[in-house]
Formats: sequence, structure tokens, C-alpha cells
Amino acid sequence: MKILVIGGGGREHALVEKIAHSPKVGKIFCAPGNAGIAKLAECVPIEINDISNLVTFAQKESIDLTIVGPEAPLANGIVDLFEENGLRIFGPTQRAAAIESSKAFAKELMSKCSIPTAEYEVFSDFNEAFNYIQGRPLPIVIKADGLAAGKGVKVAMTYREAADFLKDVMLKKIFGSAGDKVVIEEYLRGEEVSVIAFTDGKTSCFLPPAQDYKAAYNGNQGPNTGGMGSYAPVTFLNSNDLEQIKKRMLSPLLKGMARERVPFKGIIYLGLIMTENGPMVMEINCRGGDPESTVTFSLLESDIVDIFEAVISGRPEEIEIKWSNKKCVCVVLASEGYPGDYKTGMEIFGLEKASSMKDVMVFHSGTARKGDKIVTAGGRVLEVAALGDSYAEAVKRAYKAVGRISFKGMQFRKDIARKVI
Ligand code: AMP
Ligand code: GLY
Repeated sequence: MKILVIGGGGREHALVEKIAHSPKVGKIFCAPGNAGIAKLAECVPIEINDISNLVTFAQKESIDLTIVGPEAPLANGIVDLFEENGLRIFGPTQRAAAIESSKAFAKELMSKCSIPTAEYEVFSDFNEAFNYIQGRPLPIVIKADGLAAGKGVKVAMTYREAADFLKDVMLKKIFGSAGDKVVIEEYLRGEEVSVIAFTDGKTSCFLPPAQDYKAAYNGNQGPNTGGMGSYAPVTFLNSNDLEQIKKRMLSPLLKGMARERVPFKGIIYLGLIMTENGPMVMEINCRGGDPESTVTFSLLESDIVDIFEAVISGRPEEIEIKWSNKKCVCVVLASEGYPGDYKTGMEIFGLEKASSMKDVMVFHSGTARKGDKIVTAGGRVLEVAALGDSYAEAVKRAYKAVGRISFKGMQFRKDIARKVI
């Protein structure tokens, strides 16, 4: 088989790595890929949202199956256009991807399906939104309706902060039309967990639940990022909890989407908060998480291509997915300044020394090749994942590997999964 993967981050590197293990696969392409992916796949310089050129490429190369990593091309209709052209592709349609690309749509659907989530209101008028926040309990959460590259959510501690964010989003349009509407919701307290599943829209199968470390600095301090580390499985959800999450959240959601004639096929991601009143849905994504995917896919023992094919053809019950009993921990190495402005082009040292360690996988996120060097090319640069029989072993191994890597300005959190060891 010839496979095309869309994306170029750590999640896609982890995907390509798993796909490369499938005996069915002869050749992998990745658009646009990165310097790490280039060792396993042929990287194609087509941007993820250049959908018509991706279709042309898939036709020219007779690609058997395309897998989409990030949300933006899904929200832009890549699955619809590939399918219209008779090409097999794994992921939700544009209308189903609205579960992530419109927070208002997701909240309304959750309400209709009685899925536990934070109380909310949707506004398209700045003055109404501004008046609503006055006197509401603090902190208060404000979310741009559309996609904003992970920056569209503000947990405001003061009315001033809330008003400033509302102005930025609705009046200054810092996220463009993604800020035409906002969702304002109550603040929920508790542990966050990413519960991710493969689904054909009717049945679903959970990946090991993962925890993402979203804040930039140790102790959950500093600004929110795309994710600075992750581990799986989490310690505080057992199979019974997952059963309940399926019964009360995922199955009603999938049924609701089918009823609304937007059946969801692909990977669905429930971002939950474990509140004292039980789990509540904080966000829904239409794809695997990053850096959650690096830990969850690393625990997969089955052939991932079999899973994709079973989901696409609507018979996921025919496969039994095997997961490792090990624990996996991932530490993200980021550029100095991330998630704010950062420089790129710094030479990365020690990649071989780290990736040659047993049970260590160094996934590339923002990297590029420059002559015979590998240099930084993004905010999140590398995702260093390690397996262990215990959390302690996985943490130790991951940080030992991190210690072998260096680049100018490298920053990372030192507390990933420490609380579970
Ligand atoms: P999201 O983009 O929806 O994942 O939100 C980004 C981050 O904001 C989440 O990971 C949480 O830390 C925080 N957040 C979002 N919604 C809420 C909420 N209702 N209560 C508390 N924190 C939230
Ligand atoms: N790590 C959070 C996300 O992928 O949305």
C-alpha cells in the first residue's frame, strides 16, 4: 500500500512511525513532514491546507489511503474533496469537523444530547457579551468560536482580563472570523484528561487516556501552549470510568451527530475535567492530540493501518486493538520564547545519542534539515517519548534522553508525569 500522511508535527511523526511498522505498507509520503519524518517517509512540499494540490498528488501517486493529522485541513474539507475524487481518506468530513471548528456548535450539540459540560452562553454581539460577564463568578472562560491555533481560550481571573480578551477577539478580530462568535462558560476545577477514540460514527474504541501538560512552565505556571508533555495511561481512570464516559458522553455525542446528519468518522478527542461532580467535557477535537498522540500511539501494539481501514469501511468491531501494558511519558523540547515569539535555525545536537536508547522515541515536531545538520524550525521542536514498566522508569528514561539533546535556547518542563511516580 501507498500511504499519504498530512501534517508535520510530533503527532504525524508518531503516526508515520506506526504506519511504517505495518507489513502492508510499501511506501509512505508525508506532506509537508519534517526532518525526523523524512527518515521514514518521502516528504512532499505541499502545505496542509493546499487541498486541491494534495488531491492531485494523491491521484498522481495512486495513494491507497490518506491519514490527516491536524484539524485545519479537516475543517477546510479535505475529506470531502478526497472522497469526491474517489480517494480513500481517514478523518471526519468538514461538517463533522465543526465539532472542533465551532465551539458554539459543539456546545449546542452537547446540550441537546445532555452531555455534562460547563454552563455557557454564545454571543455574536460584543456589547451583549461584555454585559453578560459583569457579575458572573470569576474565573470565567472565554472561547473564540472558531479555530485559533490553540490560542482562542482565555481563563480570565479578572473582569478587566475578560473584557480585554473579548475586545481582542470580537472587535480587534485577532483571530479573524474565528472571533465572530464567542462562547462564555463557567470555570471548571479538576484534573484534565484527554480521552481519545477511534470511531466509525457508531462504535468506538478508546485509546489509553492521556494527560497533557498545557502550561509553558513547571507547576502549571505560565501561558498555555499546544502542550509541553504528556503521559499515558492516566492513573485516575479505570475501565469502569471509561465505560461510563462512553455511555454518558461519547455514545450520546456520536448518536447526536448521526441524528443531525453529520456522522463522525475518524479520531475523536474529548478533553475532560474530572470535577467533584464527575467528568465534564471541556472541549471536543476532531483529531488526535499533540503531544497526546506520541504517548498513545507508542503504546499501540496492533497494526494501525488495519484500524484505519476498519474504521473507514465501518466495521471496527472486526478488529481487536492490542495495547502495551507499559507506561509512556513524553517531554516536549521547545524553542526559547515559545509560546510567544521565538527564533528558528538553531542546530540540534545529540539526536542519535538519544534515539538509540532502548525504549526511547525522539519524535520531531518543528525541525528541518539544513545541509547535513538538523535545525529548529518551530516553537515545539521535539517530543521525546520513553516507555517503562512503571511511570518512574518511563520518566527517568525520558529525562535521560532529554539530557542527551541540546540546542540553543532549548526549554522544557521538568515535572512531566512526576506527580504519578
Ligand atoms: P481548549 O482550547 O478548549 O482546550 O482550552 C484550553 C485550556 O483552557 C484547557 O486545557 C483548560 O486548561 C482551559 N479551559 C478551557 N475550558 C475550561 C473550563 N470551562 N474550565 C476550566 N478551564 C478551562
Ligand atoms: N494537546 C492538545 C491538543 O492537541 O489539542
